[in-house]
Amino acid sequence: MITNAESGTNVNEVADGIYRINTPLPPSFVPGGFSFNQYLVAGDEPLLFHTGPRKLFPLVREAVAAVMPVERLRYVGLSHFEADECGSLNEWLAAAPRAEPLCGGVAAMVSIGDVADRGPRALADGETLYLGRHAVRWLDTPHLPHAWECGFLFEEATRTLLCGDLFTQPGVGEEPLTESDILGPSEAFRRELDYFSHSRNARAHLERRAALNPATLACMHGSAWRGDGGALLLALADSLAQ
Ligand SMILES: [Fe+2]
Ligand SMILES: [Fe+2]
Repeated sequence: MITNAESGTNVNEVADGIYRINTPLPPSFVPGGFSFNQYLVAGDEPLLFHTGPRKLFPLVREAVAAVMPVERLRYVGLSHFEADECGSLNEWLAAAPRAEPLCGGVAAMVSIGDVADRGPRALADGETLYLGRHAVRWLDTPHLPHAWECGFLFEEATRTLLCGDLFTQPGVGEEPLTESDILGPSEAFRRELDYFSHSRNARAHLERRAALNPATLACMHGSAWRGDGGALLLALADSLAQ
């Protein structure tokens, strides 16, 4: 479903009750094009994971409104503190009176507790938050792929790993959900634009995520992916070690 004809912003359900909001970016931004995705976990206590950059707020708001009333949003989550992850956090807090920022303890301490207009709900490593038909578990992943405060959410009902910048793919991500290879394209992209911190703990973090056996990887840039997520995370660990 295209929600803005001019930008091409579109919304697609990639797992039960989980919607990818995708805005394609032109080659002038990154050669070959690029994309920003947000994921809306719809239900009793709806969660928007990532806001997109501040300048995209009207487009993302329009896309959320195509699925549910914006003011029903309960949580606005983020993996780490960057513009594409949380640039419009305060715009969302203003648009949804019940919404709270949702992040890890480090993000709350170093950034969100200060910059957000309402205090965050900070989750400890391994803590689960129940959203009705969905439940999300916070997983600290400091410096993977970048930022001390980095972490991911794992949605337990659909076994969807909201994996942020992992598997960042070039191009506009026109396929909402793919089963074809995303490791090759994302690793080729990383060789051009290395956004990884190369923390020595990367393999341990990836092995811990792989043990969850995700069935869907909800990537922030490019297509979401369906398949043996555990195996793909271990393949990424191998590739990073080369
Ligand atoms: Fe990032
Ligand atoms: Fe990102």
